[in-house]
Amino acid sequence: MNIGMKLNSLLGRIYSFLIFSMTMNAQPKGYLYDESKVIPYELPDPLVCQDGTKVETAQTWIEKRRPEILKLFKEEVYGESPENKIPMRIEIVEEGQDALGGKAIRNQVAIILGESNRTRSINLLLYLPKVSNQPLPAFLTLNFQGNHTVHSDPAILLPNTWVRNRNGIKDNCAREIDRGLAASRWAISDMINRGYAFATVYYGDIDPDFDDGFQNGAHALFSQSDSERRKPSDWGSIAGWAWGLSRCLDYLEQDPRIDGKRVAVMGHSRLGKTSLWAGAIDERFAMVISNNSGCGGAALSRRRFGETVKRINTSFPHWFCENYKKYNDKEENCPVDQHMLIALTAPRPVYIASAEEDRWADPKGEFLSALHAEPVYQLFGKSFGAKKRPILNHPVHGQIGYHVRNGKHDVTAYDWNQYLDFADQHLK
Ligand code: GCU
Repeated sequence: MNIGMKLNSLLGRIYSFLIFSMTMNAQPKGYLYDESKVIPYELPDPLVCQDGTKVETAQTWIEKRRPEILKLFKEEVYGESPENKIPMRIEIVEEGQDALGGKAIRNQVAIILGESNRTRSINLLLYLPKVSNQPLPAFLTLNFQGNHTVHSDPAILLPNTWVRNRNGIKDNCAREIDRGLAASRWAISDMINRGYAFATVYYGDIDPDFDDGFQNGAHALFSQSDSERRKPSDWGSIAGWAWGLSRCLDYLEQDPRIDGKRVAVMGHSRLGKTSLWAGAIDERFAMVISNNSGCGGAALSRRRFGETVKRINTSFPHWFCENYKKYNDKEENCPVDQHMLIALTAPRPVYIASAEEDRWADPKGEFLSALHAEPVYQLFGKSFGAKKRPILNHPVHGQIGYHVRNGKHDVTAYDWNQYLDFADQHLK
């Protein structure tokens, strides 16, 4: 490497570190954090169809309004994912009969998608409690930094694609030193003790999290000839990661040890936005959990509290479809808001979690979305259980679950205790 190249690579690392520190866990200045300054807004009614018909039955919701809202989210927000199936091949790469101190079986499975010279391997790490010979309910999650960061288990394989290391710097290879780095975010032992399988995939295996013009990752498995341009409603990265989650569910459905009808999809932050979208487009997910998902996730965009549509489209131009940029500073023109995304999970159980200090993600806006999704659940005779915002650390577990805990943007043992109680209530 000559000096110019070294300098370039160093500058690239510094740049990506700065972007990472600016975007992860921060409450950037210059945005609205004062509730008294929220400008009154009007939300689109999930129960009024585009032709003005009022939705009064679950059947009208299922047959008419739900498809309408789903189409709007596809065209205007996350983009349309390809519907055609591509070849999928499974390779069991590793198996450990005595994992986690002997109480679990560990599998590492490569889900190889595509054919000939266009393939992609998604590496699924799976822990199963040993106790049962019945098919198990499972949590399926995406992780931010590589499977090896979710637990200190020395047998977990390192990803062989780009990763973000412990300083948030984009690196070309994963490192041993980062093993177990994010273990506090994953209550794997508790899941196993309570009879759930745990499956996780590094999101970078599915699609890169940088603006690469959709040349790599999931999109490239489908891309047409170079001369064909992307349409403004084509899928972005969030839809790409959600598509990958569905491929993981394809695998879990085939695994006789897992009950494919009892798989909860869970994600944090950008991956919480992803779990909500995955649950909306793939109704096989039996439960959806969004942890601190904020703007473009559970939070109402029209409040413009904390992160805004313009800011998210500017910092992360690859996350949503091109059309979503039309709503930069014009949230009121968008035919949907995020309460309608939550409503797309109905009547399946959905959990929205906030953190008090995570004002960038607008905890109140996340709660309000859940509240305004409730009328759709009521069509199915299901309810939320909260009429107003619960106080700190007082979870509400109806068909919609919600809590706001004290602390920062993160996933904690407290969050997992709630998800496990909620899953016991709905998946067992
Ligand atoms: C940034 C971004 C959020 C996102 C978060 C994350 O803070 O602005 O929208 O949820 O990163 O994924 O950690």
